[in-house]
Amino acid sequence: MSAGDLFRSAFGSGAFSEFSAPGRVNLIGEHTDYNNGLVLPFAIDARTHVALSRNDLGEVRVVSAQRPEQIRSLRVGEIQPSEGDVDWTDYVYGVFWALTQSGRTLGGVDLAVDSNVPVGAGLSSSAALECAVGLALSTVHGYDVPLPEIARLAQRAENVYVGMPCGLMDQMASATCQAGSVLFFDVGADTCENIPFDTAASGLSVLVIDTKAHHELADGEYAKRRASCEQAAAQLGLKSLRDIEFDGLADALSRLDDDVLIRRVRHIVTENERVRTVVGYLRQGAVSSIGPDLTASHVSLRDDFEVSAEELDIAVDAALSSGALGARMTGGGFGGSVIALVPESVAAAVTDAVLAAFAARSLTTPVVRTVAPATGARAD
Ligand code: GLA
Repeated sequence: MSAGDLFRSAFGSGAFSEFSAPGRVNLIGEHTDYNNGLVLPFAIDARTHVALSRNDLGEVRVVSAQRPEQIRSLRVGEIQPSEGDVDWTDYVYGVFWALTQSGRTLGGVDLAVDSNVPVGAGLSSSAALECAVGLALSTVHGYDVPLPEIARLAQRAENVYVGMPCGLMDQMASATCQAGSVLFFDVGADTCENIPFDTAASGLSVLVIDTKAHHELADGEYAKRRASCEQAAAQLGLKSLRDIEFDGLADALSRLDDDVLIRRVRHIVTENERVRTVVGYLRQGAVSSIGPDLTASHVSLRDDFEVSAEELDIAVDAALSSGALGARMTGGGFGGSVIALVPESVAAAVTDAVLAAFAARSLTTPVVRTVAPATGARAD
Protein backbone atom coordinates (compact mmCIF):
# COMPACT_ATOMS: atom_id res chain seq x y z
CA MET A 1 0.00 0.00 0.00
CA SER A 2 1.41 3.44 -0.89
CA ALA A 3 1.97 5.99 1.86
CA GLY A 4 -0.91 8.08 0.43
CA ASP A 5 -3.36 5.16 0.39
CA LEU A 6 -2.33 4.21 3.89
CA PHE A 7 -2.79 7.80 5.05
CA ARG A 8 -6.35 7.80 3.69
CA SER A 9 -7.24 4.47 5.23
CA ALA A 10 -5.70 5.30 8.63
CA PHE A 11 -6.56 8.98 9.02
CA GLY A 12 -9.44 9.72 6.63
CA SER A 13 -9.75 11.54 3.39
CA GLY A 14 -8.19 14.94 4.16
CA ALA A 15 -5.38 16.52 2.15
CA PHE A 16 -1.80 15.45 2.77
CA SER A 17 1.71 16.16 1.48
CA GLU A 18 4.25 13.56 0.40
CA PHE A 19 8.00 13.34 0.82
CA SER A 20 10.58 10.61 0.35
CA ALA A 21 14.21 9.79 1.02
CA PRO A 22 16.40 6.93 -0.25
CA GLY A 23 18.57 4.19 1.17
CA ARG A 24 22.25 4.25 0.23
CA VAL A 25 25.22 2.10 -0.52
CA ASN A 26 28.69 3.24 0.35
CA LEU A 27 31.12 2.83 -2.53
CA ILE A 28 34.11 3.15 -0.20
CA GLY A 29 35.15 4.84 3.07
CA GLU A 30 33.84 2.55 5.80
CA HIS A 31 33.88 3.42 9.52
CA THR A 32 35.75 6.59 8.60
CA ASP A 33 32.83 9.00 9.16
CA TYR A 34 33.00 8.98 12.97
CA ASN A 35 36.76 9.48 12.66
CA ASN A 36 36.22 12.78 10.81
CA GLY A 37 37.33 11.02 7.63
CA LEU A 38 36.26 10.56 4.03
CA VAL A 39 33.26 8.67 2.64
CA LEU A 40 31.84 8.07 -0.84
CA PRO A 41 28.22 6.88 -0.68
CA PHE A 42 25.43 7.11 -3.22
CA ALA A 43 21.67 6.99 -2.87
CA ILE A 44 19.86 3.98 -4.34
CA ASP A 45 16.43 3.87 -5.87
CA ALA A 46 14.83 2.17 -2.89
CA ARG A 47 12.97 4.88 -0.96
CA THR A 48 10.94 5.57 2.15
CA HIS A 49 7.79 7.58 1.46
CA VAL A 50 5.93 9.67 4.01
CA ALA A 51 2.41 11.12 3.61
CA LEU A 52 1.40 13.55 6.33
CA SER A 53 -0.71 16.46 7.42
CA ARG A 54 -0.95 18.55 10.55
CA ASN A 55 -3.74 17.77 12.98
CA ASP A 56 -5.19 19.83 15.83
CA LEU A 57 -5.16 16.98 18.33
CA GLY A 58 -1.77 17.78 19.85
CA GLU A 59 -0.76 14.22 18.99
CA VAL A 60 1.75 12.68 16.62
CA ARG A 61 0.03 9.65 15.11
CA VAL A 62 2.09 7.32 12.95
CA VAL A 63 1.40 4.21 10.93
CA SER A 64 3.53 2.11 8.59
CA ALA A 65 2.50 0.11 5.53
CA GLN A 66 4.86 -2.56 6.82
CA ARG A 67 2.72 -2.76 10.03
CA PRO A 68 -0.66 -1.38 8.92
CA GLU A 69 -2.56 -2.86 11.84
CA GLN A 70 -0.96 -0.49 14.34
CA ILE A 71 -1.49 3.25 14.66
CA ARG A 72 0.88 4.62 17.28
CA SER A 73 0.32 7.91 19.00
CA LEU A 74 2.19 10.17 21.41
CA ARG A 75 1.20 13.58 22.71
CA VAL A 76 3.57 16.29 21.52
CA GLY A 77 4.76 16.98 25.08
CA GLU A 78 5.56 13.29 25.68
CA ILE A 79 8.08 13.00 22.87
CA GLN A 80 11.31 12.61 24.86
CA PRO A 81 14.21 10.12 24.70
CA SER A 82 13.71 7.19 27.06
CA GLU A 83 15.33 3.86 27.87
CA GLY A 84 13.96 0.63 26.48
CA ASP A 85 13.76 -1.42 23.35
CA VAL A 86 14.11 0.33 20.02
CA ASP A 87 10.92 0.50 18.02
CA TRP A 88 10.57 1.73 14.42
CA THR A 89 8.51 4.70 15.64
CA ASP A 90 11.55 5.92 17.62
CA TYR A 91 13.07 7.04 14.32
CA VAL A 92 9.97 9.15 13.64
CA TYR A 93 9.58 10.54 17.14
CA GLY A 94 13.35 11.02 17.40
CA VAL A 95 13.36 13.35 14.42
CA PHE A 96 10.34 15.21 15.80
CA TRP A 97 12.27 15.63 19.05
CA ALA A 98 15.48 16.72 17.30
CA LEU A 99 13.59 19.37 15.32
CA THR A 100 12.01 20.78 18.47
CA GLN A 101 15.41 20.70 20.20
CA SER A 102 16.75 22.82 17.36
CA GLY A 103 14.31 25.55 18.37
CA ARG A 104 11.49 24.85 15.93
CA THR A 105 7.91 24.63 17.18
CA LEU A 106 6.03 21.57 15.95
CA GLY A 107 2.43 20.56 16.58
CA GLY A 108 0.26 17.49 16.08
CA VAL A 109 0.73 15.48 12.90
CA ASP A 110 -0.72 12.40 11.21
CA LEU A 111 1.98 10.54 9.33
CA ALA A 112 1.91 7.39 7.18
CA VAL A 113 5.08 5.62 6.08
CA ASP A 114 5.78 3.17 3.30
CA SER A 115 9.24 1.91 2.40
CA ASN A 116 10.91 -0.44 -0.03
CA VAL A 117 14.35 0.00 1.55
CA PRO A 118 15.17 -3.44 2.94
CA VAL A 119 15.54 -3.43 6.72
CA GLY A 120 18.72 -4.94 8.18
CA ALA A 121 20.47 -5.11 4.81
CA GLY A 122 23.01 -2.39 5.59
CA LEU A 123 21.30 -0.08 3.11
CA SER A 124 20.32 2.60 5.64
CA SER A 125 16.61 2.06 6.02
CA SER A 126 16.85 4.07 9.26
CA ALA A 127 18.46 7.09 7.62
CA ALA A 128 15.88 6.96 4.82
CA LEU A 129 13.05 7.04 7.36
CA GLU A 130 14.68 9.78 9.44
CA CYS A 131 15.44 12.02 6.47
CA ALA A 132 12.02 11.59 4.86
CA VAL A 133 10.37 12.40 8.20
CA GLY A 134 12.72 15.34 8.85
CA LEU A 135 11.98 16.96 5.51
CA ALA A 136 8.27 16.21 5.88
CA LEU A 137 7.84 17.55 9.42
CA SER A 138 9.88 20.68 8.84
CA THR A 139 8.13 21.53 5.58
CA VAL A 140 4.56 21.09 6.81
CA HIS A 141 5.38 23.35 9.77
CA GLY A 142 6.64 26.06 7.42
CA TYR A 143 10.35 25.62 8.07
CA ASP A 144 12.75 25.54 5.16
CA VAL A 145 15.54 23.49 6.73
CA PRO A 146 18.57 22.95 4.45
CA LEU A 147 19.08 19.28 3.59
CA PRO A 148 22.51 19.00 5.29
CA GLU A 149 20.86 20.24 8.48
CA ILE A 150 18.08 17.67 8.06
CA ALA A 151 20.90 15.10 7.95
CA ARG A 152 22.44 16.39 11.18
CA LEU A 153 19.09 16.43 12.98
CA ALA A 154 18.44 12.89 11.75
CA GLN A 155 21.83 11.79 13.11
CA ARG A 156 21.05 13.47 16.44
CA ALA A 157 17.75 11.61 16.55
CA GLU A 158 19.56 8.34 16.00
CA ASN A 159 22.40 9.09 18.45
CA VAL A 160 20.27 10.42 21.31
CA TYR A 161 16.68 9.23 20.82
CA VAL A 162 17.39 5.78 19.33
CA GLY A 163 20.73 5.40 21.13
CA MET A 164 22.88 4.27 18.18
CA PRO A 165 26.23 6.14 18.05
CA CYS A 166 26.37 6.30 14.24
CA GLY A 167 28.36 8.80 12.22
CA LEU A 168 26.82 11.20 9.70
CA MET A 169 27.41 9.36 6.42
CA ASP A 170 24.06 7.62 5.99
CA GLN A 171 21.93 10.63 6.80
CA MET A 172 24.04 12.97 4.64
CA ALA A 173 23.76 10.52 1.75
CA SER A 174 20.01 10.04 2.13
CA ALA A 175 19.35 13.77 2.48
CA THR A 176 21.66 15.25 -0.15
CA CYS A 177 22.78 12.74 -2.80
CA GLN A 178 22.15 13.53 -6.45
CA ALA A 179 21.20 11.17 -9.26
CA GLY A 180 24.18 10.04 -11.34
CA SER A 181 26.78 10.97 -8.69
CA VAL A 182 28.55 9.66 -5.66
CA LEU A 183 28.80 12.01 -2.71
CA PHE A 184 32.38 12.75 -1.68
CA PHE A 185 31.78 13.84 1.90
CA ASP A 186 34.79 15.00 3.90
CA VAL A 187 33.35 14.87 7.40
CA GLY A 188 36.23 16.71 9.10
CA ALA A 189 36.26 19.55 6.59
CA ASP A 190 32.44 19.48 6.37
CA THR A 191 32.50 19.61 2.58
CA CYS A 192 30.39 17.67 0.10
CA GLU A 193 31.08 17.27 -3.59
CA ASN A 194 29.01 15.33 -6.13
CA ILE A 195 31.26 13.31 -8.41
CA PRO A 196 29.73 11.77 -11.56
CA PHE A 197 29.57 7.98 -11.32
CA ASP A 198 28.36 6.59 -14.60
CA THR A 199 29.06 2.88 -14.55
CA ALA A 200 26.94 2.19 -17.64
CA ALA A 201 29.13 4.48 -19.76
CA SER A 202 32.02 2.14 -18.94
CA GLY A 203 29.97 -1.02 -19.55
CA LEU A 204 29.89 -1.73 -15.83
CA SER A 205 27.25 -2.29 -13.14
CA VAL A 206 27.23 -2.21 -9.39
CA LEU A 207 25.58 -5.26 -7.86
CA VAL A 208 24.32 -5.15 -4.30
CA ILE A 209 24.25 -8.57 -2.71
CA ASP A 210 21.99 -8.60 0.36
CA THR A 211 23.35 -11.60 2.20
CA LYS A 212 20.31 -11.70 4.53
CA ALA A 213 22.72 -12.24 7.42
CA HIS A 214 22.09 -10.13 10.55
CA HIS A 215 24.41 -10.69 13.42
CA GLU A 216 23.16 -9.75 16.83
CA LEU A 217 26.41 -8.19 17.90
CA ALA A 218 26.22 -5.41 15.32
CA ASP A 219 25.26 -2.48 17.54
CA GLY A 220 27.51 -3.31 20.48
CA GLU A 221 30.48 -4.02 18.24
CA TYR A 222 29.90 -0.79 16.31
CA ALA A 223 30.08 1.19 19.56
CA LYS A 224 33.25 -0.73 20.52
CA ARG A 225 34.93 0.12 17.22
CA ARG A 226 34.09 3.74 17.71
CA ALA A 227 35.44 3.68 21.27
CA SER A 228 38.70 2.01 20.14
CA CYS A 229 39.24 4.68 17.50
CA GLU A 230 38.65 7.43 20.06
CA GLN A 231 41.01 5.72 22.49
CA ALA A 232 43.75 5.45 19.86
CA ALA A 233 43.33 9.10 18.87
CA ALA A 234 43.60 10.12 22.53
CA GLN A 235 46.75 8.03 23.03
CA LEU A 236 48.28 9.73 20.01
CA GLY A 237 47.27 13.16 21.28
CA LEU A 238 45.00 13.76 18.29
CA LYS A 239 41.47 15.08 17.99
CA SER A 240 40.59 12.24 15.63
CA LEU A 241 42.28 9.56 13.53
CA ARG A 242 41.62 11.78 10.54
CA ASP A 243 44.63 13.80 11.65
CA ILE A 244 47.05 10.98 10.74
CA GLU A 245 48.38 11.52 7.23
CA PHE A 246 48.98 8.43 5.13
CA ASP A 247 52.72 9.24 5.15
CA GLY A 248 52.66 9.41 8.94
CA LEU A 249 50.99 6.02 9.42
CA ALA A 250 54.12 4.02 10.26
CA ASP A 251 55.16 6.62 12.81
CA ALA A 252 51.70 6.69 14.41
CA LEU A 253 51.58 2.88 14.62
CA SER A 254 55.02 2.80 16.24
CA ARG A 255 53.62 4.94 19.05
CA LEU A 256 50.85 2.45 19.90
CA ASP A 257 51.51 -0.78 21.74
CA ASP A 258 48.11 -2.46 21.61
CA ASP A 259 47.74 -4.78 18.62
CA VAL A 260 43.99 -4.20 18.32
CA LEU A 261 44.37 -0.42 18.32
CA ILE A 262 47.21 -0.70 15.78
CA ARG A 263 44.97 -2.59 13.38
CA ARG A 264 41.99 -0.26 13.89
CA VAL A 265 44.16 2.78 13.15
CA ARG A 266 45.72 1.11 10.11
CA HIS A 267 42.27 0.49 8.67
CA ILE A 268 41.09 4.06 9.13
CA VAL A 269 44.21 5.69 7.69
CA THR A 270 44.50 3.33 4.70
CA GLU A 271 40.74 3.59 4.07
CA ASN A 272 40.89 7.38 3.87
CA GLU A 273 43.73 6.99 1.38
CA ARG A 274 41.71 4.50 -0.69
CA VAL A 275 38.84 6.99 -0.82
CA ARG A 276 41.26 9.62 -2.18
CA THR A 277 42.53 7.16 -4.80
CA VAL A 278 39.02 6.22 -5.90
CA VAL A 279 37.98 9.88 -6.08
CA GLY A 280 41.02 10.51 -8.28
CA TYR A 281 40.00 7.73 -10.67
CA LEU A 282 36.38 8.88 -10.80
CA ARG A 283 37.45 12.44 -11.58
CA GLN A 284 39.23 11.03 -14.62
CA GLY A 285 36.18 8.95 -15.55
CA ALA A 286 38.25 5.79 -14.95
CA VAL A 287 35.51 3.82 -13.18
CA SER A 288 36.97 0.48 -14.23
CA SER A 289 40.19 1.26 -12.29
CA ILE A 290 38.62 1.38 -8.83
CA GLY A 291 38.12 -2.38 -8.38
CA PRO A 292 41.36 -3.21 -6.53
CA ASP A 293 40.73 -0.43 -4.00
CA LEU A 294 37.23 -1.76 -3.30
CA THR A 295 38.66 -5.20 -2.65
CA ALA A 296 41.51 -3.84 -0.54
CA SER A 297 38.91 -2.03 1.56
CA HIS A 298 37.14 -5.32 2.20
CA VAL A 299 40.36 -7.05 3.24
CA SER A 300 41.13 -4.22 5.64
CA LEU A 301 37.61 -4.28 7.12
CA ARG A 302 37.83 -8.06 7.47
CA ASP A 303 41.32 -8.38 8.91
CA ASP A 304 42.16 -5.06 10.59
CA PHE A 305 38.80 -3.61 11.57
CA GLU A 306 37.14 -7.02 12.10
CA VAL A 307 33.62 -6.03 11.07
CA SER A 308 33.03 -8.55 8.29
CA ALA A 309 31.10 -11.80 8.59
CA GLU A 310 31.41 -15.20 6.96
CA GLU A 311 28.50 -14.48 4.59
CA LEU A 312 30.06 -11.21 3.47
CA ASP A 313 33.43 -12.86 2.82
CA ILE A 314 31.78 -15.67 0.85
CA ALA A 315 29.90 -13.16 -1.33
CA VAL A 316 33.06 -11.11 -1.95
CA ASP A 317 35.13 -14.18 -2.83
CA ALA A 318 32.45 -15.63 -5.12
CA ALA A 319 32.05 -12.29 -6.92
CA LEU A 320 35.79 -11.84 -7.42
CA SER A 321 36.37 -15.36 -8.64
CA SER A 322 33.58 -15.05 -11.22
CA GLY A 323 34.70 -11.83 -12.85
CA ALA A 324 33.96 -8.86 -10.57
CA LEU A 325 36.58 -6.10 -10.81
CA GLY A 326 36.26 -5.41 -7.09
CA ALA A 327 33.95 -6.28 -4.20
CA ARG A 328 33.50 -5.27 -0.59
CA MET A 329 31.09 -5.23 2.30
CA THR A 330 29.17 -1.95 2.49
CA GLY A 331 27.83 -0.26 5.63
CA GLY A 332 28.55 -1.09 9.24
CA GLY A 333 29.18 -4.82 8.73
CA PHE A 334 28.47 -8.00 10.76
CA GLY A 335 26.05 -8.98 8.01
CA GLY A 336 24.13 -6.88 5.52
CA SER A 337 25.26 -6.29 1.98
CA VAL A 338 28.25 -6.59 -0.34
CA ILE A 339 28.75 -4.43 -3.42
CA ALA A 340 30.51 -5.75 -6.51
CA LEU A 341 31.69 -3.74 -9.51
CA VAL A 342 31.16 -5.96 -12.53
CA PRO A 343 31.41 -5.72 -16.32
CA GLU A 344 27.80 -5.90 -17.55
CA SER A 345 28.74 -8.95 -19.62
CA VAL A 346 29.47 -11.00 -16.49
CA ALA A 347 26.77 -9.63 -14.16
CA ALA A 348 24.59 -12.74 -14.59
CA ALA A 349 27.56 -15.08 -14.09
CA VAL A 350 28.59 -13.23 -10.91
CA THR A 351 25.04 -13.42 -9.58
CA ASP A 352 24.90 -17.15 -10.32
CA ALA A 353 28.28 -17.74 -8.67
CA VAL A 354 27.19 -15.94 -5.50
CA LEU A 355 23.90 -17.87 -5.33
CA ALA A 356 25.76 -21.15 -5.91
CA ALA A 357 28.33 -20.38 -3.18
CA PHE A 358 25.53 -19.73 -0.67
CA ALA A 359 23.55 -22.80 -1.76
CA ALA A 360 26.64 -24.99 -1.42
CA ARG A 361 26.90 -23.95 2.22
CA SER A 362 23.14 -24.16 2.88
CA LEU A 363 23.01 -20.45 3.66
CA THR A 364 19.88 -18.34 3.15
CA THR A 365 19.57 -17.31 -0.49
CA PRO A 366 20.90 -13.77 -0.97
CA VAL A 367 19.06 -11.12 -2.98
CA VAL A 368 21.13 -9.54 -5.75
CA ARG A 369 20.13 -6.17 -7.22
CA THR A 370 21.71 -3.74 -9.65
CA VAL A 371 21.95 -0.19 -8.32
CA ALA A 372 22.72 3.18 -9.83
CA PRO A 373 23.05 6.55 -8.06
CA ALA A 374 19.62 8.01 -7.29
CA THR A 375 18.38 11.28 -5.86
CA GLY A 376 18.25 12.24 -2.16
CA ALA A 377 15.38 13.46 0.01
CA ARG A 378 12.66 15.42 -1.79
CA ALA A 379 9.05 16.54 -1.78
CA ASP A 380 7.07 14.25 -4.07
C1 GLA B 1 26.76 2.62 9.72
C2 GLA B 1 26.72 4.01 10.35
C3 GLA B 1 27.53 5.02 9.54
C4 GLA B 1 28.93 4.50 9.25
C5 GLA B 1 28.86 3.06 8.70
C6 GLA B 1 30.23 2.46 8.55
O1 GLA B 1 26.10 2.64 8.48
O2 GLA B 1 25.39 4.47 10.46
O3 GLA B 1 27.58 6.25 10.23
O4 GLA B 1 29.76 4.59 10.36
O5 GLA B 1 28.11 2.21 9.52
O6 GLA B 1 30.96 3.15 7.58
